[in-house]
Amino acid sequence: MTYPRVRKAVFPVAGLGTRFLPATKAMAKEMLTVLDRPLIQHAVDEAASAGIEQFIFVNGRGKSAIDDHFDLAFELERTLEARGKTAELGRSRAMVPMPGNVISVRQQQPKGLGHAVWCARHAVGDEPFAVFLPDDLVLGDRPCIGELVELYERTGGNVVAIQDVPREHTNRYGVLDVGEDDGHVAEVKGLVEKPEPDVAPSTLTIIGRYILLPEMFEHLERQEPTAGNEVQLTDAMAKMIGSAPFHGLRFSGTRFDCGTKLGFLQANLAFGLEDEDVGVDLAAFAKNLLLNKG
Ligand code: G1P
Repeated sequence: MTYPRVRKAVFPVAGLGTRFLPATKAMAKEMLTVLDRPLIQHAVDEAASAGIEQFIFVNGRGKSAIDDHFDLAFELERTLEARGKTAELGRSRAMVPMPGNVISVRQQQPKGLGHAVWCARHAVGDEPFAVFLPDDLVLGDRPCIGELVELYERTGGNVVAIQDVPREHTNRYGVLDVGEDDGHVAEVKGLVEKPEPDVAPSTLTIIGRYILLPEMFEHLERQEPTAGNEVQLTDAMAKMIGSAPFHGLRFSGTRFDCGTKLGFLQANLAFGLEDEDVGVDLAAFAKNLLLNKG
């Protein structure tokens, strides 16, 4: 059986980034950089590497830097050209999607992740789509979304990236109630948003990569606010269980929660250590620093 191809990705980027104040006072938190590129570009690059062609940003006020980042920068490029900086010019141009392939929609009020995804309904239309939470950055040999797309191509239905967490952390995540599980792919038979550890149905949690069917929008349309008084994507997903296949995939990479200072710093260190220009020197510096700290 072949399923419709995943061509579009939704990036909810309307959040205020309060945990990173004052850094995010006049700047979108998705523009914070890990190594040499902003978080949002890591997410867009990952999407593009899995064959996704259209990028839908669910923006808020004051987030225009994200749209500008994915546009040609005429003055900058002319200057680079005049100075013979060909490599830099190539890098600046290569990351700009084809004209018409970036769409921005506004989430006018901060009503939660489910509401943000629902705001993209007209741009997505009637086809399966990916959702990326750019705070969740995954480092690995294979792009996380590519692994999800591969599973979707075999099973159809909804697919989410999952990881096991310590039980005391279940109240930070969407948590799975698991059916059949081969240790790699888990059938989802229930979902709860941020349950307390004593009532969580498992310790398998969703991280910010999803492949969703367009029927999700009908459930989001009717979704009332729940956990945190927000419209939750998890609740709308839970409503689809039973009507379409639904799987969680233990992806192969390492996830960093760049919505926290610790996760963000860990991501910079991990990406830096992998980098061919700075990795060796950074490792030597980090070792020295730790030795001197005793
Ligand atoms: C969101 C989702 C949650 C998911 C998490 C992954 O929560 O609502 O289900 O597990 O992202 O990062 P948030 O981190 O926005 O509170």
